Amino acid sequence: MRASGKRKRALTAGPFSLARDQVRKSAGKAHGSMAVLGKTRRDKMAKAKTTVFFCKECGYESAKWVGQCPACREWNTMVEEPAAPRNSSAASAVRHQSSLMKSKPARLSEISVEEKDRVTTGYQELDRVLGGGVVAGSLVLVGGDPGIGKSTLLLQVCRNLSAVGQKVLYISGEESLKQIKLRANRIGQVTGDLRFLCETSLDNIQETISQEKPDIVIIDSIQTMYREEISSAPGSVSQVRESTNLLMQIAKGEGITIFIVGHVTKEGVVAGPRVLEHMVDTVLYFEGDRHASYRILRGVKNRFGSTNEIGVFEMREQGLVEVENPSEFMLDGRPEGASGAVVACAMEGTRPILLEVQALVTQSNLGIPRRTAAGTDYNRVNLLMAVLEKRCHYEMSRYDAYVNIAGGMKMNEPALDLAIIMALVSSLKDRPVDEKTIVFGEVGLSGEVRSVSMAEQRVNEAVKLGFEACVLPRISLDKMKKNGKIRLIGVSNVREAIGIF
Ligand code: TYD
Ligand code: MG
Repeated sequence: MRASGKRKRALTAGPFSLARDQVRKSAGKAHGSMAVLGKTRRDKMAKAKTTVFFCKECGYESAKWVGQCPACREWNTMVEEPAAPRNSSAASAVRHQSSLMKSKPARLSEISVEEKDRVTTGYQELDRVLGGGVVAGSLVLVGGDPGIGKSTLLLQVCRNLSAVGQKVLYISGEESLKQIKLRANRIGQVTGDLRFLCETSLDNIQETISQEKPDIVIIDSIQTMYREEISSAPGSVSQVRESTNLLMQIAKGEGITIFIVGHVTKEGVVAGPRVLEHMVDTVLYFEGDRHASYRILRGVKNRFGSTNEIGVFEMREQGLVEVENPSEFMLDGRPEGASGAVVACAMEGTRPILLEVQALVTQSNLGIPRRTAAGTDYNRVNLLMAVLEKRCHYEMSRYDAYVNIAGGMKMNEPALDLAIIMALVSSLKDRPVDEKTIVFGEVGLSGEVRSVSMAEQRVNEAVKLGFEACVLPRISLDKMKKNGKIRLIGVSNVREAIGIF
């Protein structure tokens, strides 16, 4: 009985605590005879330390545990992991490589940039986010929640790239070849040189890549990959960091484009791709509501183009389909003549997107009224309600208010302020806003309507979708060229805007 209990404890203790115990024991033994220790002995002791602490957010390494990471200032992000062997780490490979290619300084005029270095992925939405296609020898991280569609997107990209003559190698550490085949059957026919490999050892992968010499490699996902020389588990900070290091060398050294898939968990527990973001050239996030069918691909970092761009896709039965006109998609199925619904225009990078802001204002039975905001900032909604109360003398504190951006879209742009205010008042008075009108503008604390960027693009998008009127900040209107296709109504404060309907 006792023995089995002991074994159980030993089993649950895990390899980390075992290593820690050993360190402690050796430290304890040494303690008594510290005075007689020579310098070399003490050095050996320092080397015997087998675990270090890593920050899950930024990858900072520390010899001891600290509550707050000294580098990124995040709290409770340090995790204990076995130390990486110094001599065999990726650093030595980098040193080796840099000694091989002793580079000389060059003038800008001597550097040639060839357009053919960019390859189109077959999806305009993705090309735009990448800055005009895939750059040869770049390292692209595609992050996102599990199940959002990263593998599907990359498989479709592989299909397109292999169809135009690229040699593609898709390496999966998560799914079996059978599962990949089933997925591939759903997305349609695959032609060209597209090969699959189920492997998690990066050392084997490196060998395969040097034999096969593909143009494009997909690593799905980085959390399942490991390097043999590092003793910590796959997905830990040091594994993820060293694995990416190796992939970076392969990408830069051989001019191969590598897409890395990285899962993000809610708590960022398993070494979040945050650690990777510093190392790769491009970071894309694939996001969306699991219950809604659309997905947004957002550029967060891009060494080869703008980061403000987004691409919109829809998840269908046969895989992902590009959404060329997101506004139409977002406004689909809009209720007619309903109070509390206003169409607003938000910008995603250089792209205007029309969306519906909904508000429901009802009498409150509670001391503190209930307020919720789905898809937009809760505090912003509270602030706008305070502006209505103070500047327009509506007794908002007597009402519960629920604000929602229809379609599961998340938008925090201040240009939505005026639409939120109009939706709230419309619901409060139970009077619908004209459905052929769009509204945008930032609202300040004194109830003034402030100008927003790219007003012209927003108006043009409204024209494109057949809207007949647009309520916008007067300052923005004054700066704009006349547009005969739509009635433009400039307002300078909230009261004026409410007076329109
Ligand atoms: P997947 O690409 O496996 O997600 P990730 O790699 O980000 O974890 O996507 C899985 C989801 O996508 C799954 O819930 C099913 C759905 N899906 C479709 O709706 N249609 C399809 O054609 C495919 C392949 C997947
Ligand atoms: Mg996947």
